[in-house]
Parts: sequence; C-alpha cells; structure tokens
Amino acid sequence: MASGGQPDLFAGGAAPESDAQRLAHLREILHHHAHLYYTLDAPEVPDAQYDAWFQELQRLEAEHPEWLTPDSPTQRVGGAVLNGFASVTHAVPMLSIRTETDVEASGAQAFDARIRKELGLGPEDPPVAYVTELKFDGLAMSLRYNGGVLVQAATRGDGQSGEDVTANVRTIGQIPLRLIGADVPSVLEVRGEVYMARADFDALNTRQAAAGEKTFVNPRNAAAGAVRQLDSGIAAQRPLSFFAYGLGEVQWAGDAPTQHMELLMRLKAWGFPVAEQTAVAHGAAGLVAFHQRIGDAREQLPYDIDGVVYKVNDLALQRTLGFVSREPRWAVAHKYPAQEALTTVVAIDVQVGRTGKLTPVAKLAPVFVGGVTVTNATLHNELEARRKDVRVGDTVVVRRAGDVIPEVVSVQLDKRPEPSEVFTMATHCPVCGSIAVREEGEADHRCTGGLFCSAQRKQAILHFAQRRAVEVEGLGDKLVEQLVDSGAVKTLPDLYRLGFTALATLDRMADKSAHNLLESLEASKQTTLPRFLFGLGIRHVGEATAKELARHFGTLDAIMAASEEDLLQVADVGPIVATSIRTFFEQAHNREVVEQLRACGLQWAEGAPVERAMQNLAGKTFVLTGTFPTLKRDEAKDMLEAAGAKVAGSVSKKTDYVVAGEDAGSKLEKARELGVAVIDEAGMLALLSPLKA
Ligand code: IVH
Repeated sequence: MASGGQPDLFAGGAAPESDAQRLAHLREILHHHAHLYYTLDAPEVPDAQYDAWFQELQRLEAEHPEWLTPDSPTQRVGGAVLNGFASVTHAVPMLSIRTETDVEASGAQAFDARIRKELGLGPEDPPVAYVTELKFDGLAMSLRYNGGVLVQAATRGDGQSGEDVTANVRTIGQIPLRLIGADVPSVLEVRGEVYMARADFDALNTRQAAAGEKTFVNPRNAAAGAVRQLDSGIAAQRPLSFFAYGLGEVQWAGDAPTQHMELLMRLKAWGFPVAEQTAVAHGAAGLVAFHQRIGDAREQLPYDIDGVVYKVNDLALQRTLGFVSREPRWAVAHKYPAQEALTTVVAIDVQVGRTGKLTPVAKLAPVFVGGVTVTNATLHNELEARRKDVRVGDTVVVRRAGDVIPEVVSVQLDKRPEPSEVFTMATHCPVCGSIAVREEGEADHRCTGGLFCSAQRKQAILHFAQRRAVEVEGLGDKLVEQLVDSGAVKTLPDLYRLGFTALATLDRMADKSAHNLLESLEASKQTTLPRFLFGLGIRHVGEATAKELARHFGTLDAIMAASEEDLLQVADVGPIVATSIRTFFEQAHNREVVEQLRACGLQWAEGAPVERAMQNLAGKTFVLTGTFPTLKRDEAKDMLEAAGAKVAGSVSKKTDYVVAGEDAGSKLEKARELGVAVIDEAGMLALLSPLKA
C-alpha cells in the first residue's frame, strides 16, 4: 500500500478502534483498493492483503448484521435469489443512436456535413469539435446513485422502462458501489455499457463446458445472460466489465459541465471506467482519422466493439440540435464493414473440445481478414457443415465480424472442383480413438473417451479441482496446462502423486507455492460424496443432480452399480441423465480412476447420516430470506439439502418453513399471510441438529 494518504489500519499506539470505526475503515480502504484493482488496473496491495481485509469485514458484519449496508464491499459476492425482475421507469428515457449507413470513411463526412448544415455553419466557420468514442458491444445500463451510493441498476428495456438488475450489477467490480472524489451530485444516473472482455468470455466458456453447462455464442450474449441471472451468486461468477459514456438524470453539486468530454472526465474522477481511446476530434478529418485508427486497432482490443460513436462535444449545441423521434441528432454510430474474404478449403479436421464435443474445422489457405491472417474457420457441427455443404477444395467466403472465431459464410458452387465429397463426421475421436456418438436431438458429436481422452483431460482436472467440487486451492489453468503438457499428470489420481520436486521445478513455481499446493491437495482429500461425484464431470451431472444421487443411493458403490432403471428413481434424473451416468461408469478406465482416487486417500462420509437425515427433513420445503447472523445463504442451503430438504426460491402454501434473517422482505410477509412457519437461523440449526448427533 502507498504510504501517503491512507488511514493506517495497524496503527500501534493510537486508541483502539471500536468495531464500528474499524468496519467503516475497512469499507473505506476496500472501496479504494477495489477501484485501483478493477477500474484502474493498478493494484497497490497484494491480493492476499485485500482478501484479509475483506474477510475481516465479513467477520465484523456477521457479528453485527445490523450494520450491513448494500454498498458494503462484501455485497459484491452476490447471493440474493429473485423470482423475477421488477420494472423500472427511467427518469430520463434511454435513447438509441442512429447508425450511419455508409460504413466507409465517407460516413464520417456525411455526419459532419449534416451537423454543419443543421447548425447553419458555412465553409468559413471553424470545424466542429466532437467526442469520438468506441461503440461497445454489450448491453446498455443505467446506474442510479443517491447521495453517491449505488441504489439501482436498470437495463434499457424499451427505452422508457427496463428491468431492475441491481443485485447482479453490484457484483461487477468495475462499477463503484459508492462514488469517490469531490462534488458528488446528490442524484446521478450514469449510462454506459456492461460487457464481457474476450479473455473473460473464453475462460467462462471453458469453465461452463468443463461443468457440462451451456456455453455462450459471443461475449455480448454471455454478458446479457449474466445480467439477467435470477441468482446473483451465479452472476457474481460471470466476469463483467463496464464503460461509462453518458448521463440520465442528474442534480449537480456545483457547476454543470459544458462539454461532453468534461462530463466523461468527471465520471472518471468519481470512479467509473471511461475507455482510454475516447478523444476529442475536430471536423470531418478528425472523425475519419479516428475511424481509421480504431479500425486498425480493433482486433487487438481486449473486448468487442461494433463501431465507433461520434458526439458533438458542446452540450449547449447538443441541446440546440435536439432529437428526431427517439434518436439524438448530435450523435451517430459509425460501424465497420463486415470483414469477409475469399479463400479455399484445404482440409476439414475434427477438433476435440472440452467436454468431448467434436467440431469440424475448415483448414483454409491463409487469408487476411479483419486485420488478421485466418487459417481456420469453424463449421460448428456436422449438420451445419452439411447445411452449408462445405467440401474440401471448395472456394468459400469467410467472415470475421467482431466475433472471435472466423466462420464460413457460403460456398461458391461454380468454383467447386470435380469430383468432390460430402463431409461426414469421424466415427472415432481423432485424439483418443474412442467411439464418437451423437445423441438424439443434439447437433454435436462427442468423444466418449471421458477422462481418458487427453484433449479433455485438462478441463476435467480444472473441473475436479474447482471450489464447488473437491476444491484444490491454487490449481489454476496455467498450472494444469503445465502439469498435463509435461506429462506429470495424465489422470486425476496423478495429481495426488505429485511430489515436491516435480512441482517446484515447474515454471514460475516457487518453493512456497509448491508447498501450498501440496497442502491444498491434501486438504481436498476430505470431501463429500456430492462434491466428488460432481467433480468427476459426468455429462449432465451438475451439482444438484450429484446431491440427489448421493442422497438417494448413499454410497458411491451403489451409484456405480445402479442400473438405468435404478437411476430413473432419483428425483430429477431422466433417461438422458441416467444413460450418461451408466455410460460413464461402464467405461473401465473411468472406474479405474475412481478406484485410484480412493486409493490415494480421497474420502467422504457415506450412508448412515444420509439415511438418518431422510427421516428428518426429507420432503420438507424451505425458503431462505434476509441475511443470517453466521451462515451464508449458500451454506444454509447446502446444509438443508444435505439433510434431504428442498430449498425453493419463493413462498407458497407448499412451503414448510421460511428461514428469515436480518432485513427479510416480501417473502417474510408472504409467509405470515399464508401462515407458513417462520424460524430464524438458530431454529434452522436446531432442526438440523439430529444430523450432528
Ligand atoms: S450513446 C443518446 N455511446 O449503442 C445516446 N451508446 O443505440 C445514447 N453503445 O443502446 C447512446 N457504445 O448500448 C452511446 N459510446 C457509446 C456506446 C453506445 C455502445 C450502445 C448503447 C446503446 C446503443 C445505441
């Protein structure tokens, strides 16, 4: 931490802080460092220090739940689960922006000419000053601050009213929960774009696929999906970012800005990210130069843009120009031409993805599109490849439209060589030789090799090691990559056979980290059956299914021995899931991996407690609301589910208990209305206590 200006949290001689002072201090310092870390990308303290402060604050808040406020840095982790989003009427409508139709440089000239004409400027008058911005490809968001505190985040919706997504938006590290700096307006609505950076998008898709969950088509869809998550705990795990570019309602504390650029600089000073490319340009020539410069740099940006935006800088001139229908006359979006080129298909390869998905990939004669040389284009799956009828030798149009993966758009049939062959999918995995299958109703072929297939191994290891599975702290992508590539880890059990020397010789691995990793591996051996089962990465077996299976069968051996019929008896297990579980355990190498993991010392409680719990809370439905004094909502949910209860999101006549904490809202009211039993955390723990006996 920098020495100047910062309150010293560890001052020796001074009078000891009260809990309340300490809490206020911690929040202040965490706000400051979150801004440095997320928004300015310039952290000044090690992550471990930040985490220590964060945990101390969590502890204090758990001891004093009455002091918990929505702008506390701890609230970024999410947790609230909603049934739907409330509607928000925008105080100032959220407008859209006109798109300049001419994608070439002349589009910029046309805009400038229009502005000059509408302002009545002649050839002798000086050039108009514009602010040139990027057009971010995410979703528009309105953030409302009262007294400098974030109170509401709303989507654009139809422009007049949108959805209240505050709980999810609070989890975005780059969005200040509390404004910093001077002259903070009493009311401030900031307009901007929530987006997902490309690297974050790739990492998210990797995790999704490893968990057997749906992957996203592009960063914009992933961002939109995250913002509209009903479970803010899930939203918190989706890495979102934000750029500010405008205002809604505002009550200035001092003088109002007169220029758009000045406004953006104030937003930046209050803690919002403003894209560094944002600049002032003069006249058509300035706009054209910006369009050119960003067009050249576009592929190197860490996030997707679909064009640039020009805005008249002078706010008084903006008011003069006004609006046509629902678009401002003073701004325009200028897109880039679609990036397409002609090339030939040299071969069609099949690549093995993270969950065994086989993707046909067209190998292309190298061609320069959208600033990069493209040699591969995805054909998605066999059906797509056939629909477009792409064949080896074909001349094809490829496109790179801000998207990450180039695509074959169409085939030029008149240039097709004779003879040519229709593409058919391989019958076996090109990496491990296992049979490739395509399930009913699915477009994708998959390798059935599972943990045995080297292409799937890295992801399988990451999946196994993640927090919600057996949790091997400190085992991240980079490390797994090295471990697998070096041959040190071929199967999951190999993880537990790693020695200190093998680890310490890896790239960027200090003795201390090697030691820590060995400790986390050791700690991960004490696990639970649901975590272990989920960690195996059986297709269609997510956390919830793993819990159901563990509850139903009690032991791993019983699950491994279960027939499809047996499996179908389990709540939420249908024929597809049952077949997937059967297929997994029928493979000798998967059974072998399980046995070896057990031999390495992985263990969990089996049988008895589950059965006892079944008599206890099985079939009971709970609803959790408010903040609990000691447990996180997730923890309470896990405990109830482990005891056989169901945890629902909303209160109905079928609810058996509502567990209410601090600040319980409408769910508590509903429970009282319907006469549902309301208990507190202690009451819930009492219900669970036979389990501990
Ligand atoms: S200004 C009154 N600036 O593009 C003008 N919009 O149709 C309001 N967008 O929904 C928009 N980057 O989501 C503006 N630098 C930028 C932008 C931007 C992306 C999006 C925004 C809006 C749509 C315009």
